[in-house]
Amino acid sequence: MADLFRKKIIALGDDRPVEHRLARTLSWPHLVALGVGAIVGTGILTLIGVGADRAGPAVLVSFAVAGAICACAALCYAEMATLIPASGSAYTYSYAVLGEVIAWVVGWSLILEYSLVVSAVAVGWSSYAVGFLNYVGIVLPEGLTHGPTVAGNLFDGTLRLTASGINVPAIFIIATVAGLLTLGTRESARINTALVLIKVATLILFVAVALPHFDAANFRPFAPHGFGTVEAAGGVKYGVMGAAAIIFFAFYGFDAISTAAEEAKNPERDLAIGIVGSMVVCTIIYMVVAAAAIGAARPDVFGKSAEPLALILRQIGQGPIAAIVGIAAAIALPTVILGFLYGQSRIFLVMARDGFLPPKLAQISARGTPARITLVTAIFVSVIAALTPLDVIASLANAGTLCAFVAVAACVLVSRRRDPAARRPFRTPLVWIIAPAAILGCLYLFTSLQTVTQVSFLVWNGIGLAVYFAYGRARALVAG
Ligand code: ALA
Repeated sequence: MADLFRKKIIALGDDRPVEHRLARTLSWPHLVALGVGAIVGTGILTLIGVGADRAGPAVLVSFAVAGAICACAALCYAEMATLIPASGSAYTYSYAVLGEVIAWVVGWSLILEYSLVVSAVAVGWSSYAVGFLNYVGIVLPEGLTHGPTVAGNLFDGTLRLTASGINVPAIFIIATVAGLLTLGTRESARINTALVLIKVATLILFVAVALPHFDAANFRPFAPHGFGTVEAAGGVKYGVMGAAAIIFFAFYGFDAISTAAEEAKNPERDLAIGIVGSMVVCTIIYMVVAAAAIGAARPDVFGKSAEPLALILRQIGQGPIAAIVGIAAAIALPTVILGFLYGQSRIFLVMARDGFLPPKLAQISARGTPARITLVTAIFVSVIAALTPLDVIASLANAGTLCAFVAVAACVLVSRRRDPAARRPFRTPLVWIIAPAAILGCLYLFTSLQTVTQVSFLVWNGIGLAVYFAYGRARALVAG
C-alpha cells in the first residue's frame, strides 16, 4: 500500500546523464510567447461562439469566471514550477508531493489535455486550410479532408458511423510542427514568437474594426439561460457556468510553460514571469475581444458558427477583413499545436525516464531535443486527429486539464504544510485562499461538463489505473 504513495526525489538542474539532458535555450520572452502561443487559439477563435450560444451576452461572465479560476491555478503552477524546476509539469509535482499513484492518474489525465488539444486544433486548422485550398481552386477528395463522423450517443447504444475518412491536412500540420520541434527548441521558439505576434495582431485588428459597430442593445437580455447550469435535451449544458466549463478551454496553455523548466535559462525567475505574464495578457485580450464581438453582433447571429469572428466581420460589411482574419488564423493556429505537442513530448519524456515508458524513448538527439519521443508523440496524436470525431474532444480535454489543475493546487498546499522552509522563488499570494479557490473552482467546472464527458473521463482514468497495476507499478524507477 505504501508503494502506491511513494514519492520521487526529483533530479534538478543539469545533474542527469548527458544523453538525457535538454539544452537550456529559452529566456522569459520565449516563455511568455510559448504561453500566449499555446493559450490563444481555438477557444477564442471558435468556442466563443459555442459559449455565446449557451450563455448569451453573459458569456462575458463565463470568460471572467473561467479566467479567474485559471488565474488561481496559474499562480499555483508558478509556485510549483519554480520550486521544482524540472520537466513534466503537474505529473512531476504530483510524483514529488502526492505520491506515485496520484502522479500516474495526473499523467494519464495530462495525456487527455495535451494530446486532445493537439488533435482538436489540428482538425480545426484542417477546416481553415481546406477552405483556403478550395478558394484557390485546389480541391482535395472529400474522404481525405475529415475523419469518420458519427451520430447518436455511445451510452444509449444509438452511436453509428455516418461518414468515413482520414483527415490528411491534420496529419500534415502535426508532422510539420513535430519536424520543427525536432530541429531545435530555440528555432521553434523563434518561429513561435513570430506567429504569436501575427495572432495577437489579428485579434487587435478584429477589435479595431468591430468596436465602431458597438451597440449596447446587443447585451439585452444579458443572461437568457441564467447564471448557473441548465441541462437541455441531448445533455448540453446551458447557462453562464455551463458555458464557462467550455470557455475554460480558451484559457489553458500557460501550464505548457512549466514543461519547459529544464530548457529555461533562468527557470526560477522566468517560469513565474512566463506563466503569470501570459495569463494576464490573454485574459485582457479575451475580455476585449468578447465585448467587441457581442457589441457588434447578437450572440444568436454568430453562436452556431464555426468561424464566429469572421462571420461577425462579414455581418458588419467587412468581408475583406474577415478573409484576412481567416488566413491569419490558419497561419497562426499551429502555435497551439506547437505548445501542446512540445508539452506532451516533455511529459512523455519524463514518464519514460521514470520507467513508465520504454527508457530508450528518453534519448536526447545531438540537437538537444527529445527527437524520438517527439516522433512517437506526433504519431500518437496524428492517429487521434486523423480518425477521431471531434464532438466531445474539447470538453474531454477540459476534464483532463481540470484534474491536473486540482492536483497542482493540492501540491502547493501539501508542500507548504509539509515543508514550510523550502526555498520558494515564487510564492502564491494568499495561498490558503487562492489554492482552495482553484481546487473548488475546477471541481465546480467539472460538474458543469456534460455527463458523457464526465463518464468518459472516469473510464479513461479507470483504464489508466488498470495499466498502472498491470504494467507501470512494477517498472517505476523512483530513484529519479
Ligand atoms: N487555449 C487553447 C485554445 O484555445 C487550448 O486553443
